[in-house]
Amino acid sequence: MSNNLLKGKRGIITGALDENSIAWKVALKAHEQGATFVLTNAPLAMRLGTIKQLAEQTKSEIIPADATNVEELTNLFTKSQEVLGGKIDFVLHSIGMSPNIRKNIPYTELNYDFYMKSLDISALSLHKMLAVAYKLDALAKEGSVVTLTYIGAQRVFPFYTDMSDAKATLESIVRNFGYHYGKKNKVRVNSVSQSPTKTSAGNGIKGFAEFFDLANMQSALGNASADSCADYCITLFSDYTKMVTMQNLFHDGGYSTTGVSMEMMDKL
Ligand SMILES: NC(=O)c1ccc[n+]([C@@H]2O[C@H](COP(=O)([O-])OP(=O)(O)OC[C@H]3O[C@@H](n4cnc5c(N)ncnc54)[C@H](O)[C@@H]3O)[C@@H](O)[C@H]2O)c1
Repeated sequence: MSNNLLKGKRGIITGALDENSIAWKVALKAHEQGATFVLTNAPLAMRLGTIKQLAEQTKSEIIPADATNVEELTNLFTKSQEVLGGKIDFVLHSIGMSPNIRKNIPYTELNYDFYMKSLDISALSLHKMLAVAYKLDALAKEGSVVTLTYIGAQRVFPFYTDMSDAKATLESIVRNFGYHYGKKNKVRVNSVSQSPTKTSAGNGIKGFAEFFDLANMQSALGNASADSCADYCITLFSDYTKMVTMQNLFHDGGYSTTGVSMEMMDKL
């Protein structure tokens, strides 16, 4: 159902790898709500994934960019403005990867080259995107930038290892760049802290399936799906949230403020 919430808005959507990706759902909904946008992902991921299918479905162009590479990001923001015919109104940063998690390395034994990669891909890439956009003056007045995060930034989830540190850094960048971009031209920057979600990134975490069920039991509304996360992102890109910025917004069915649920008690 479309309310044309994003009619006339131009966007850049990162991170759609396959149909399970949160970014994939955001792209479908942004299209439904009248937005035009460019899709982007790392060149390698584009070969593995099925982004072309999404591009056809949403009538979008794809501009590859490794989000850790400033030159490629500069090309992304420059070309996106040409393709879309003006400044960018919204950006979805939906990027995360930890080689330490992929290789099952525990937090106490992190490989530091991998650690730097996790931080660069999962956190600094947001700073790089915002810095490139800032320098090029590529974001429209009252634009909106949303990134995705996880409660591992605030609390300990041992299996989340260095992604916890990456997400804490990411959320700090949201606050700090949010200040500067708000002052510059009222662009807002927020993070959405999402429930565990069955995607390629989520499933890569050891014990994810069991934890997914635990989190579901611990949330009054149950785990938030990728689809509902996409709905929330759309509201943050819309004109109905113009005064929300520099926030970490929990989209987790109540998980973050629950001490313990009766279902969890019953399991003991
Ligand atoms: N799945 C979950 O349980 C969950 C929960 C909370 C937050 N998140 C966050 O949501 C975001 C999206 O993840 P997802 O769950 O949709 O999984 P996903 O695997 O579908 O998406 C991750 C994306 O990051 C991209 N990426 C990796 N390295 C990149 C690089 N160098 N340059 C550009 N893109 C790169 C991948 O190609 C992929 O498209 C991530 O930030 C993730 O941490 C996920």
